[in-house]
Amino acid sequence: MEWFESWFDTPYYHLLYSNRDYTEAENFITKLTADLQLPPQSRIIDLACGKGRHSVFLNKLGYDVLGLDLSRQSIESDKQYENQTLIFQVHDMRNPIDADPMDAVFNLFTSFGYFDNENDDKRYFNLYTTP
Ligand SMILES: C[S@@+](CC[C@H](N)C(=O)[O-])C[C@H]1O[C@@H](n2cnc3c(N)ncnc32)[C@H](O)[C@@H]1O
Repeated sequence: MEWFESWFDTPYYHLLYSNRDYTEAENFITKLTADLQLPPQSRIIDLACGKGRHSVFLNKLGYDVLGLDLSRQSIESDKQYENQTLIFQVHDMRNPIDADPMDAVFNLFTSFGYFDNENDDKRYFNLYTTP
């Protein structure tokens, strides 16, 4: 088992990030979406969404959001926020997604670069970008 398959479901990880800054997340998303000028109702994947702080705010702004994360505990907690346009699923970013085409994929706050082999980073990147 790879370290990132277990670490994010340990009590230590949840303790470490228990004071995660939701205001900072909202400020960041406000600036990012303004800069990207994504049309209203765009479909966005929040890949490695964790406890959903960016997903929830993106959805409040009107976007259709799919939050994906490998951590079962985080997705279990995220489910409380679900609605018709905000869905959370357990998903390993190393695998392709079975979903309709999306307008954007966000991967935020040190959620990339965990793989030992650089080719795995490249493979992952190719999975979520159009050729
Ligand atoms: C530092 S946290 C950031 C979480 C969230 N983006 C945020 O800003 O609150 C990194 C996240 O990456 C997730 N993760 C790690 N490896 C993953 C993988 N292979 N596939 C999907 N998610 C993964 C972890 O479960 C964790 O939620």
